[in-house]
Amino acid sequence: MFSTKVFIGFIAVATALAALAQEPGFIWDKLETSTELKWTDCYTQPLQCARFQVPLNYSDPEGRSASIAMIRFPSPLAGTEQYMGPVLLNPGGPGSSGVDLLAEAGAVFSQILGPNFDIVSFDPRGVAFSTPRASFFPTEAQRQFFVSSSFDDVNATSDGVARMWARAQILGALVTRQDQKDHLIEHLNTENTARDMLRMVEAHGQEKLQYWGFSYGTVLGATFASLFPDRVGRLILDGVVDSENYYAARWSDTLDTDKTLQTFFDSCFEAGPDLCPFYESSAQAIARKLDELTRTIALRPIPVITNTSYGLVDYARLRVTIFNSLYAPYVYFPPLAQGLADLVRGNGTALYQMLDTPLFDCNCGTPVPLPTITDAIFAIRCTDGQEVRDTVDDAEDYVRQLLRLSQWGELLAIARVSCAAWPRQQNKHFRGPLVGNTSHPILWIGNTADPVTPIASAHKMARGYPGSVVLTQDSPGHTTLAAPSICTVQHIQSYLLNGTLPAEGVVCPVTGPIFSASQPSNDTTRGLAGRQEADQDIIRALERLRQSFKLRPLF
Ligand SMILES: *[C@@H]1O[C@H](CO)[C@@H](O)[C@H](O)[C@H]1NC(C)=O
Ligand SMILES: *[C@@H]1O[C@H](CO)[C@@H](O)[C@H](O)[C@H]1NC(C)=O
Ligand SMILES: *[C@@H]1O[C@H](CO)[C@@H](O)[C@H](O)[C@H]1NC(C)=O
Ligand SMILES: *[C@@H]1O[C@H](CO)[C@@H](O)[C@H](O)[C@H]1NC(C)=O
Ligand SMILES: *[C@@H]1O[C@H](CO)[C@@H](O)[C@H](O)[C@H]1NC(C)=O
Ligand SMILES: *[C@@H]1O[C@H](CO)[C@@H](O)[C@H](O)[C@H]1NC(C)=O
Ligand SMILES: *[C@@H]1O[C@H](CO)[C@@H](O)[C@H](O)[C@H]1NC(C)=O
Repeated sequence: MFSTKVFIGFIAVATALAALAQEPGFIWDKLETSTELKWTDCYTQPLQCARFQVPLNYSDPEGRSASIAMIRFPSPLAGTEQYMGPVLLNPGGPGSSGVDLLAEAGAVFSQILGPNFDIVSFDPRGVAFSTPRASFFPTEAQRQFFVSSSFDDVNATSDGVARMWARAQILGALVTRQDQKDHLIEHLNTENTARDMLRMVEAHGQEKLQYWGFSYGTVLGATFASLFPDRVGRLILDGVVDSENYYAARWSDTLDTDKTLQTFFDSCFEAGPDLCPFYESSAQAIARKLDELTRTIALRPIPVITNTSYGLVDYARLRVTIFNSLYAPYVYFPPLAQGLADLVRGNGTALYQMLDTPLFDCNCGTPVPLPTITDAIFAIRCTDGQEVRDTVDDAEDYVRQLLRLSQWGELLAIARVSCAAWPRQQNKHFRGPLVGNTSHPILWIGNTADPVTPIASAHKMARGYPGSVVLTQDSPGHTTLAAPSICTVQHIQSYLLNGTLPAEGVVCPVTGPIFSASQPSNDTTRGLAGRQEADQDIIRALERLRQSFKLRPLF
C-alpha cells in the first residue's frame, strides 16, 4: 500500500522525493504562486497542493519573495459545523519535506487526528519543492560525490574528525561562492519559517496555529510559541529537541542513545531465539556479541553483491545501520537481529540491504534535477545555530565530549562540525530565549528511550512555557510514531479536539512486544485483540505509518 520512504528524523532524513519529483502528471513549477491558498489536486486523491507566496525577508516585505510548496489532505467535514480548521505538520530534519510526508501518509494522519481537521504540511523555505531552494553544487553528481565520501563514522579512522572538519571548510567555501550569487542563506532560518507558518494560518482565515511537529519540528514549534505566544491554538511537540542547545549549535547535553540500544538487547533476549536470531543466553551476552562482531568487521569488512547494488559492510556501515535502527525499533529490530546473525556467519546481504542506498546513476551534466535535501539540512542548521569557528582541535575535543555522552556520540558530530566554515551572517535572527506565556498550553511528548531526543529535553523545554505538560510514551524509538500507543493517540485527540491536556506525569504504554511486530497476523501481539473497532483502526493506521519508514544513511 505504501511504496514509501518516510523517515522522520532529527539527523537521519529520508524521503521519497526522487520518486515524487518524477511522478507524472503533477509539476510544481506549473502551479501559480499566490498569497492566497489556491488548492489544486495533486498526487493521489484527495490530496491538494498550493504554492504560497511569502517575503524572503520579513523586514523587506516588498522585496524578493519565496514560494512555499504546500499540501493538504482536506477535512471531509469542511463546510460543516464540525470542521475545526487546519493542523500543520512538520516532519523534522531540519530539511525534511512535508510534501513528501503527506503524499505518503496524509490519509493515515487524517485517520489518527480525525475528520474535523484539514491535515496540512509544507516544504519549509529552502527545502525540496519550495523555491528558491538551498543548493550548493552545480550538478547532482557532484553533490553525490561530495556527500557520499564526506561524512562517514568519524571513529572509523584515526583522522576521521580531521577529515570531516577539512571537508566542512570546502562546504563553507562552496556555500559562500553560491551565496554571493543568490544571497539566500541568511533567509533560511527557523524564525522566518515560523513567520511563514503564521502567514499560512492567516491565509486559512484562522487566528491561531494548530500544529504537530516532530523532532526538529519541535524547534520550529517552540520558536513560533516564543515569537507569537498569543497565536498558539494547539501545539503538539513530539520528540523534543532542546532548542536552546540547538540554537547554540552544541548538539549535545544528554543522550538516551545507549538506553535505546539496551532495549534491543533486552527485547531480543525476552523474545527468545525463535523470534530474535541474534539471541544469546542473556541481554549482556547479546551486547558482548555485538561488540565482538563490530571489532571483527572493523578489521574484516564483508563484500556484498545484490541484484541491484553492491558494496561493503564495514565498520561505518554497520554502525550507521544500527544507529538508524534505533529510530524505529518496532520496524527495524527484527530485521536488524537477522542481519547481525547473518553477519556473524559472514553473510552481509541482509544487513547491507537495510540501508536503502540505490547506486547513484549519473546524469552527468544536467543541472540539479531533484530537490536537494542534504543542502537544506546544512543550510537551516548552520544558519540557525550560533556561529561555529572551531579549529580542528576544537572539533576533536567536541567529538570526545559527545563520546562521553554516548558510545554513538560521534555520529552526531556532523551537525556542528559541518558548520565550521559557514559564511558569517550580517543580521541577527531569533535564537531564544525559548520562553512564552502561550494562549493555550503546549503538549510536549517524549519517549522513555529516544535515541536522539531524550525525554529530559521535553522537561527542560516545558519549563519555559507555563501551563504546558509533558506526556511520556513508554517506548524506545524517535517520536511517538515509532511505536504503537492508543493511549498517546487518545491524548493527542483530546488535546486537539477539546484542548484538554493530560495530567502531569502520565506515562502511556504501547501495544505489543517489539519482536512480534514481524508477525503481523497475530492479533494479540499487534494489540488488536479485545479492542473496539475504532482503536483497531488506529493501530492499523499506526502500523502502516511505521512500515512506511525507510532507513537511509545519515546523509
Ligand atoms: C532584510 O531587509 C532589511 C531591510 O531592508 C535589511 O536591513 C536586511 O539586511 C535584510 N536581511 C537580509 C538577510 O538580507
Ligand atoms: C571512538 O574513538 C575513541 C577515540 O579513539 C575511542 O576511545 C572510542 O572507543 C571509539 N568508540 C568506538 C565506539 O569505537
Ligand atoms: C535476483 O536475481 C535472481 C536471478 O535473476 C532472481 O532469481 C532473484 O529473484 C532476484 N532477487 C531479488 C531479491 O530480486
Ligand atoms: C546470504 O543471505 C541472503 C539473504 O539475505 C541469501 O539470499 C543468500 O543466499 C545468502 N548467501 C549465502 C552465500 O549464504
Ligand atoms: C509570563 O507571565 C509571568 C506572570 O505574569 C511573567 O512573570 C513572565 O515574565 C511572563 N513571561 C514571558 C516570557 O512573557
Ligand atoms: C471531548 O469532550 C467531549 C465532551 O466532554 C467528550 O464527549 C469527548 O469524548 C471528548 N473527546 C475527546 C477526543 O477527548
Ligand atoms: C500470538 O503471539 C502470542 C505471543 O507470542 C502467543 O502467545 C499466541 O499464541 C499467538 N497467537 C496466535 C493466534 O498465533
